[in-house]
Amino acid sequence: MSRKKEIVIVLLILTSVSMIPGCTGIDPIENTNDQKRVEANGKELYDHITIGNNYQNWSYWPGKGEFEPARDPNGDLATTYVSNTSLSSLENKEGNMSAGSIIVKENFEPDKDLVAITAMYKVDGYDPEHNDWFWVKYSPDGTIEAEGMIEECNECHGMKKSNDYIFTAKLTEGIPAATPNTSRTPNATPTPEPTPRPDIKTMDIWIEGHVFKPYGNVEINMGDTIEWMNHEKYKNPRDLISEDGLWDEPVHLNYMKKFNYTFNETGTYYVSLRLNEVGSRQKITVI
Ligand code: HEC
Repeated sequence: MSRKKEIVIVLLILTSVSMIPGCTGIDPIENTNDQKRVEANGKELYDHITIGNNYQNWSYWPGKGEFEPARDPNGDLATTYVSNTSLSSLENKEGNMSAGSIIVKENFEPDKDLVAITAMYKVDGYDPEHNDWFWVKYSPDGTIEAEGMIEECNECHGMKKSNDYIFTAKLTEGIPAATPNTSRTPNATPTPEPTPRPDIKTMDIWIEGHVFKPYGNVEINMGDTIEWMNHEKYKNPRDLISEDGLWDEPVHLNYMKKFNYTFNETGTYYVSLRLNEVGSRQKITVI
């Protein structure tokens, strides 16, 4: 056989093999988004939560809405979305999120400009030491800023280890009922976990660096309590001053120490940090 003929035969064989179904190089399972298991991988998760199963169609964290005041260092306001799996874990009061749960948080500047998207995704067996959470931070355009077992996320969220690393609400509380029937529960009034929502009884304010978090003015109802905590990055103490003389001496707060005050009269109050910087003075309106 001539060399030329040999080449033609080899080419013919190759072409016919590539026409056999299944040898085309395209795996049909790869093309169906919902059948595909999402790996602990920032890019894959992003595609899943934007193209596959758009998080903006998910529920907000039950009882929360858009632009909630936030203390998370990723932004000042936050909108938090829960996937179906997370939602059923909350409904069932499991006390932890089951594998597959995804929580996505949009983080905004005070003027509601989106600055980052952060997410937690629970992947069975991924990081048992930290309850298997895979963490990721995206820029608003989807660029991955950090992903994986991010130490900083695990460390701060680790304060809530007994609540599966979740800050927003106590997982065993379930979903807030629309109209709680108080007359039927004589001795079961659980003490609510302090959260930064303005419509509940205790509001948490963190002192971070030189500023109050949430940043800006806050509004509470008469009878509500505000709890301040010193969360200064370098563990410096801070002095909390009531400019209206609610307390006489500045309250000296060491790192992670808390102080609270219940506002029993309506009015406008100012608290400050003795540091003359933007954000180190906060107006509290009690209505
Ligand atoms: C200094 C503490 C701190 C750090 C660091 C931190 N967070 Fe948070 N995070 C919070 C707090 C507090 C909340 C509750 C909502 C709020 O007040 O912002 C929260 C809420 C969240 C939520 C909504 C679910 C929940 O726990 O309530 C997600 C998702 C989240 N953070 C992701 C991240 C990711 C990803 C990182 C790391 C890149 C990170 N966080 C780093 C404090 C922190």
